[in-house]
Amino acid sequence: MPEPEHLLDNNLAWAQEHLRQNAEFFKHLATLKNPKYMWIGCSDSRMPANEMIGVEPGLVFVHRNVANQVQHTDLNCLSAVQYAVDVLGVEHIIVTGHYDCGGVKAAMESQHFGIVDNWIRGIRDTYIDHADAMAACCDKEKRLDMLCELNVKRQVDKLSHTRIVQNAWAAGKDLSLHGWVYRLQDGLLHDLGVSKSCANDVEAIYRVASVPDSPED
Ligand code: CO
Repeated sequence: MPEPEHLLDNNLAWAQEHLRQNAEFFKHLATLKNPKYMWIGCSDSRMPANEMIGVEPGLVFVHRNVANQVQHTDLNCLSAVQYAVDVLGVEHIIVTGHYDCGGVKAAMESQHFGIVDNWIRGIRDTYIDHADAMAACCDKEKRLDMLCELNVKRQVDKLSHTRIVQNAWAAGKDLSLHGWVYRLQDGLLHDLGVSKSCANDVEAIYRVASVPDSPED
């Protein structure tokens, strides 16, 4: 494993190689200021978001955290979503989970893991919400697959409940939410079919009746 100083050497070589191939490489990247997509993914570092979907880095605005959560008390995620929607004007927010996710797996264990217990509590709630389906599935790996998918769906729901998203819809902005999942073994993304693109896609109790002046959630 390289030491940090070697990483800086790698960086220099990387920048020089890009410039050798295209003298305008960094100038071009700097012009890509209007991403069309926001990606909310897991912190798991094994898949680079923009490469998986075949777009240049500047076209996808990325937020990652443990088990790709959208939590209403998480100022980090909500700030990124607000910036993406209100300032960058992204048209699609894609919550992307992955099978065999360590955060989801931890939520299935009856163990304390430390402060992350608070972070993954909502995934445990999702498990309990689907307890019958989980109990009907004898295979532990399949249960984990199911919970990884249900977790993504839940985060798309929560995203649709934010005022940031609902205000965008009320203002007539073109904004769609999507839930995708992939397996590390093949890197292929699957659409879970849980997209939402207007207030009618959200249960009435979560709908915002009016557009407030302040954009907080
Ligand atoms: Co993960």
